[in-house]
Amino acid sequence: MIIGAPVFFYGLPAQLKALVDRCQVFWARKYVLKQEPAIQGRKGAFIAVGATKGATLFDGAKLTVKCLFDAMGWSTRMSCSSGV
Ligand SMILES: Cc1cc2nc3c(=O)[nH]c(=O)nc-3n(C[C@H](O)[C@H](O)[C@H](O)COP(=O)(O)O)c2cc1C
Repeated sequence: MIIGAPVFFYGLPAQLKALVDRCQVFWARKYVLKQEPAIQGRKGAFIAVGATKGATLFDGAKLTVKCLFDAMGWSTRMSCSSGV
């Protein structure tokens, strides 16, 4: 799964965040029910863009997506760049 998104206030756009929040079921499956991932053998990739620069520009969005892919049980690759 490849997720591409602009940075909005150091996080994900609301529409994408709503989709991520719907994936709480996968977190519960892994950490509460302790079951195997529902969809196995996949990889997650995240491409982000922002309009400013700064060492922490992508930290919030990256943490959210990393947490999502971890809940899915997938390994992760990330690439982020600033427009400045
Ligand atoms: C609601 C909103 C919040 C934004 N917040 C940030 C931000 O925190 N940091 C940043 O670098 N850019 C921010 N941006 C800029 C977007 O990341 C930028 O518009 C997007 O990367 C697309 O680039 P473009 O507008 O040059 O096409 C924000 C844009 C919007 C609309």
